[in-house]
Amino acid sequence: MEIIIHPNKLLRKKCKDVKNLISAKKIKKMFQLMYNNNGIGLAAPQVGWNINMFIINLTKEPDKELVFINPQILKTNEEMVEMDEGCLSIPGVIKPVIRPKYVLIKAQNLNGQHFYLEDDNLLSRCIQHEYDHLNGILFIDKTS
Ligand code: CO
Repeated sequence: MEIIIHPNKLLRKKCKDVKNLISAKKIKKMFQLMYNNNGIGLAAPQVGWNINMFIINLTKEPDKELVFINPQILKTNEEMVEMDEGCLSIPGVIKPVIRPKYVLIKAQNLNGQHFYLEDDNLLSRCIQHEYDHLNGILFIDKTS
């Protein structure tokens, strides 16, 4: 497993919903790859996996690992904020992006259970960035 670097068509494809349970082993590999590259989020298409799934861990602590399967953003608010972003698929590039401050997301975890999560800080930012990956959108598309 390795990280796909921009420009690559695989990063521009729209991903498909997950129907069966995902291999926990493969997810673990994704987390390891993310940690090795000092990332806080990684979307399935970034490792050549064309499915609606991304992972986040803002801390590197094992119990803070978040897996989002078939995520749906249910709500954002009107308040926009600018924050610097980077992406493991676009090494060395850090640019400010304007996005909604708040997000409410619904997704499934590794066991297929639905959960809701809301945030208005770094986690919100990360969720929105990773969610874009599932639609073939990169943060550099959103910079001026
Ligand atoms: Co990214």
